[in-house]
Amino acid sequence: MDLIPAPASHTPDPGRPGAVLDTRTVLRAAPGTQTAERWLRATLGAAFALPLHPAPPADAPPATPSPATPPPPRGAVVRLRLDGALGPEAYRLTVADGTVDITGGDPAGVFWGAQTLRQLLGPDAHRRAPVRPGAPLALAAVRIADRPRFAWRGLLLDVARHFLPKDDVLRQIDLLAAHKLNVLHLHLTDDQGWRLEIRRHPRLTGVGAWRARTKRGHRASPLWDDTPHGGHYTQDDVREIVAYAAERHIRIVPEIDIPGHSQAAIAAYPELGNTDVVDTAALGVWDTWGVNPNVLAPTEAVLRFYEDVLDEVLDLFPAATSPFVHIGGDECPKGQWRASATAQARIRELGVGDEDGLQAWFVRHFDRWLADRGRRLIGWDEILEGGLAPGAAVSSWRGYAGGIAAAEAGHDVVMCPEQHVYLDHRQDGGPDEPVPIGYVRTLEDVYRFEPVPPGLSAEAAAHVIGTQANVWTEVLDSRSRVDYQTFPRLAAFAEVAWSTTLPAPAERDFDGFARRMGAHYRRLDALGVDYRPPTGPSPWQRRPGVVGRPIEGPPPNV
Ligand code: ACM
Repeated sequence: MDLIPAPASHTPDPGRPGAVLDTRTVLRAAPGTQTAERWLRATLGAAFALPLHPAPPADAPPATPSPATPPPPRGAVVRLRLDGALGPEAYRLTVADGTVDITGGDPAGVFWGAQTLRQLLGPDAHRRAPVRPGAPLALAAVRIADRPRFAWRGLLLDVARHFLPKDDVLRQIDLLAAHKLNVLHLHLTDDQGWRLEIRRHPRLTGVGAWRARTKRGHRASPLWDDTPHGGHYTQDDVREIVAYAAERHIRIVPEIDIPGHSQAAIAAYPELGNTDVVDTAALGVWDTWGVNPNVLAPTEAVLRFYEDVLDEVLDLFPAATSPFVHIGGDECPKGQWRASATAQARIRELGVGDEDGLQAWFVRHFDRWLADRGRRLIGWDEILEGGLAPGAAVSSWRGYAGGIAAAEAGHDVVMCPEQHVYLDHRQDGGPDEPVPIGYVRTLEDVYRFEPVPPGLSAEAAAHVIGTQANVWTEVLDSRSRVDYQTFPRLAAFAEVAWSTTLPAPAERDFDGFARRMGAHYRRLDALGVDYRPPTGPSPWQRRPGVVGRPIEGPPPNV
């Protein structure tokens, strides 16, 4: 059994015949299973040149054989069905007697079952065209029952620091689906770029979507890349991304960062900044990395501006597939607010006490604004400072502590501690690791990551709605570099997020996982993923001379 992520149960049935898929195979899809049906035909159909014939409607008259056209010999049948008795996203997959049965608790469950079927068919099932036409596709008899541990199994892609073209985002969605991950958190805005077309405020992309040059490596590096960098998604690009993800049962969480990480927006519209303490008209889109002092001004005009932005965001990312909207909230230095007479007057007028109170005022405003429109606000754990807005959920990134505090207070939490699942951190301590950042987080470290910290009460643990791996792209300037940092560790993360059978971290069978990875590397090869080889980076994956910022020693258990 080499499935990744490991299913809840897997029972070979060696006494029974299995099934052979070939050009006669029929795909019989019950109502409600069309996403899996379309995906199977498009994906397995392309990989093996299988038509996957639709089944005749149940009320069709039986075909009358004639001597000239004898009935075709019976091929295997792939049946897709729903059974509400199974839970959300759960599925059963049974291969026996010439039939593949995939039954899901809901359409997503059927889709995850279809993903498992692809893994059972071997690495070539992950290609886009047949490389061994006509090779038999034999499946042994087996019974698999499976369901996810967490409802939120996410990946953050930072498309702000380095833009990833739309096709690369669609490909990432396919890679998430192949690992049964179901949330793509798109970090769309930051100091270094604004990536989303906003019709009412066109300079956000006209000015904010590109920068003249870029720091190469960590901010302490002396190197610059003098090639202009930029790009953004048009509103139709976003609609396409959202629809592509929805077809794969993946929700998108759009992130529009306030009140920090906003220099690209301020460069586009200088009135958004603290104009009484800094000449915001002189600011450009930031070309280096770190925590930026240029934050939004705490004014009514800024609230109205971001309501305009979020109006368009809600239109582009519908509630059904984007119930959560991320408003950032992290790393907002308070220096400009301390120095600004306008901000200080605002603190007195609002009666919020201090600068932390101003930050909480921003977050509370948009918590209410989003709730009034049927959405939920999620933000980084700094939104706890100054008091958490009533409906807010928290992405716990500075460690577990913020998530623990929020969960104990009854707020939903997504655990993504930087010490454990920031995939921009280096994956080996060796000298060849490209632009080494942060702690050493090996494949095994990620496999032993536990999203629910010990000691959390059962009630609070139920508020840990999921977990997320975050890929920040300051030093990842291409799809290939993103692949290298993300894989193979995302496979280990997927098992942590999905599998219900993983024991406590110390007892996890990493050797068994590593053996299954043998098969999984062949799948990633077929998918064209530029993962880090187990033996270390290939020569062209190294970045000699580009300064990183490695942190020595093990991460603190915070
Ligand atoms: C973050 O890494 N600043 C959320």
